[in-house]
Amino acid sequence: MSNTRPAADASERIELKARKVSFDWEETPLHWVPGDPFTTHTINVLHLLLPAGERWFIHVYRQVLPFIRDDRLRQDVIGFIGQEAVHSQAHDDVLPHLRKLGLDPTPYTAQVDWFFEKLLGDRTLPPGRARQWWLMERVALIAAIEHYTAFLGDWVLNAEELDRRGADPVMLDLLRWHGAEEVEHRSVAFELFLHVDGGYRRRVRTWAAAFSALVFLWQRGVRFFMENDPTLLAGKPSMSQFVRKGREGVLPSTPDMLRSIPRYLSRAYHPSQEGCTAQAVAYLASSPGARGGS
Ligand SMILES: [Fe+2]
Ligand SMILES: [Fe+2]
Repeated sequence: MSNTRPAADASERIELKARKVSFDWEETPLHWVPGDPFTTHTINVLHLLLPAGERWFIHVYRQVLPFIRDDRLRQDVIGFIGQEAVHSQAHDDVLPHLRKLGLDPTPYTAQVDWFFEKLLGDRTLPPGRARQWWLMERVALIAAIEHYTAFLGDWVLNAEELDRRGADPVMLDLLRWHGAEEVEHRSVAFELFLHVDGGYRRRVRTWAAAFSALVFLWQRGVRFFMENDPTLLAGKPSMSQFVRKGREGVLPSTPDMLRSIPRYLSRAYHPSQEGCTAQAVAYLASSPGARGGS
């Protein structure tokens, strides 16, 4: 336990619950950011990564539950599991619609499934130190990934340029409902990591692994979508497009993403310092998809 433990802001704590949601994809066009396949597909990668990724979070957390000695944190983790289960299903439900529009993501999702289920899955380790090491490593990886889901959630809640450009309201609602719940539960994964391990070297090591994996999988996902989009003749995504779209406000800005790195690696980091719970809760109260599903 070598970590400095910054205190959470108690006023930010709320009871986490999974909300039922329903989204009707019938009217959502292939390029749901009008005239902008690059932005559309960059964000669409979420539908490829999150179903398997969030199922993996749940799988790991169910194994950690017996090691939690704090009732409040256990309740938070159970609420987190419930929310991630609904997120995973909601993004999975977009895939048949993409198939209907001529974009079959199966070849890519098969790779993502392998990544989470095999590479990051349970290894046949003997009970004891090795098995515990692998569990702690994965808990720390999830904390690092959740730094980015909260970052993206906060971004999409404030990405007004997407509205100005006429982005599909159902897709925006899916992203903002999910983003708002990511902001709402943004402290859980990090607090769980602090509770069961909290080692600073482990935090840095797993951040580097998570960040590299996210960049790798994301750029492959965008390339997959652009190459297989039946309406595009030549679709080669590039880093400069990403930077430009970030400047325009339809994707997260590269400088903002770079600035989020030292924040996570700071010993004083706590997720409650990021994003705004009140904004997230206000969105959740008005989300058409979240209200429609209740
Ligand atoms: Fe999620
Ligand atoms: Fe999350």
